Amino acid sequence: MSIALIGFMGAGKTTLGNQLSEKLNKPLIDLDQFIELDEGMSIPEIFETKGEAYFREKEYLALKKFINEDIILSTGGGIIENPNNKSLFLKNKCNFWVDTNFETLYNRIVGDLNRPNAVSKGYEESLILYKSRISRYNEIAYIRVDTSQSIQACCNDIVNKIISDDNG
Ligand code: S3P
Repeated sequence: MSIALIGFMGAGKTTLGNQLSEKLNKPLIDLDQFIELDEGMSIPEIFETKGEAYFREKEYLALKKFINEDIILSTGGGIIENPNNKSLFLKNKCNFWVDTNFETLYNRIVGDLNRPNAVSKGYEESLILYKSRISRYNEIAYIRVDTSQSIQACCNDIVNKIISDDNG
């Protein structure tokens, strides 16, 4: 079982993943980084030359490869776009929705050339995408972790939830 971090772009999944990895002494796998290394291309290059559908298939295969490992797994914000991923997450159980208020998310991603699903979107369009995804994050997550609190508090939320579940 992995500790999987899901949530919208800019929520802080990678930062939190690094902290958890240190605190729990488990390796961190970042699915986007894995796909980039595997393809020998950046995410924008994959989107541009092979298309989003190709990326989503690679993402599904990478998720399937890692989700049962004893690791911290950081996923891309669109991981819930492929319906095949839902059952993998539901079997894993230990999925945490990393989130914060939309204004913060938007300010972190606006115009980001490394994020093809954000780079050319304005506020309204990004908000529509966020709203279309939140129920799917919520459906597969154990709890929502709000990254407007300190990174330490976020780690504690996750660790306490895991401990209380082990004891219950
Ligand atoms: C995407 C989010 C990105 C990356 C890709 C697509 C999305 O990950 O997987 O650019 O559709 O939301 P981050 O959430 O780490 O930015």
